[in-house]
Amino acid sequence: MSETNAARHGIGIVGAGVIGAVHAEAVGLVPGATLAAVTDVDPGRAKALAAAWDCAAEPDLASLLARDDVDVVGVCVPSGLHAEVGVQAAAAGKHVVVEKPIEVTLAAADRLIAAARANNVLVTVISQHRFDAGLHELRLLLDRGALGSLLLGEASTKWYRTQDYYESAAWRGTWELDGGSLMNQGIHYLDLLLWAMGPAAEVTAICATQAHRVEVEDTTLALVRFASGAVGTVLSSTAAYPGFDQRLEITGTNGTVIVSSGAITRRELASDPASAATTPAATPAAEPTAAANPGGIDPSSHAAQIAEFLTAIDNGREPAITAGSARATLQVICAVYESARTGRSVAISPPGEERAR
Ligand SMILES: NC(=O)c1ccc[n+]([C@@H]2O[C@H](COP(=O)([O-])OP(=O)(O)OC[C@H]3O[C@@H](n4cnc5c(N)ncnc54)[C@H](O)[C@@H]3O)[C@@H](O)[C@H]2O)c1
Repeated sequence: MSETNAARHGIGIVGAGVIGAVHAEAVGLVPGATLAAVTDVDPGRAKALAAAWDCAAEPDLASLLARDDVDVVGVCVPSGLHAEVGVQAAAAGKHVVVEKPIEVTLAAADRLIAAARANNVLVTVISQHRFDAGLHELRLLLDRGALGSLLLGEASTKWYRTQDYYESAAWRGTWELDGGSLMNQGIHYLDLLLWAMGPAAEVTAICATQAHRVEVEDTTLALVRFASGAVGTVLSSTAAYPGFDQRLEITGTNGTVIVSSGAITRRELASDPASAATTPAATPAAEPTAAANPGGIDPSSHAAQIAEFLTAIDNGREPAITAGSARATLQVICAVYESARTGRSVAISPPGEERAR
């Protein structure tokens, strides 16, 4: 049965900072979506964003949630406040688009998931790179088994953030509201790694804080054993001057596909006649990137995810990126931090078993 996306949706954005502005621009790219209102604890920021996009600036969350013309709320506040805002949005009967990570603790993520379930609203958590062109191609290759049995997956984020970046807002670089390089930056390609390889079963990690005065880590290295038996690595850093393309490398029994900043740059498949020794970029890299510039975010992949979410609402189905999938990514990040803290490998229980405990 074909899906419809006929309904109009009014979007309210909570948090008018760096990513709030990207959401406002992205909403403008989504057919059937209107930016109705924004709010921020800093009223000047809400007014500036509202003026730029010709929508209302509400003085607080309650007044934004009281609006009848808002049925979807974008949660663009610091990461450790996602549940606090998202739970209130769900309680007001609004569907919720939450920025990554879903939250910084599993307990807070579970509060948000429970509130959505209790109020019968949908939640998606932004992982916009799943909508990049190269990832779409990779999905098609994986779904037709073109790589064979998966053996090895590598996710690498070597980005650069200055000390000024961490000092640009009090929440940045704190365990309570942000998390470190993996929770904030590496999460994007970790999510893609899990999406390609399947669930993780065990991680062994080390973390280091070397190039910034922050309480969180600015470099993470982790070894992953996937539930399938395949193995992998995760590297995330904000200390790698001047900042490089994020990379995902997936190896199966039939060859390897390399994704760099959203584009497939190599596809080496033993039994694929379309594959040359060195395949040129099949898709253009998404520009600009956030490798060195926190605000360098192309809104089109956010727009694609928001559009897919609105279609899910219209058709009464789960969105492509569920809160459960974002929770699974958060669970791996928490296990990585625990492993780095304790010096031991940490097992990751499947969701069913964890909830049963
Ligand atoms: N998907 C991506 O590529 C991407 C990129 C950047 C940031 N993010 C995520 O977006 C979130 C925000 O990051 P940012 O860089 O935009 O931060 P920011 O500091 O630039 O903006 C956050 C805004 O939220 C406001 N705020 C704080 N508490 C609030 C509350 N209770 N109610 C209303 N407003 C409140 C602040 O005043 C600020 O304007 C984080 O979770 C981050 O991980 C995602």
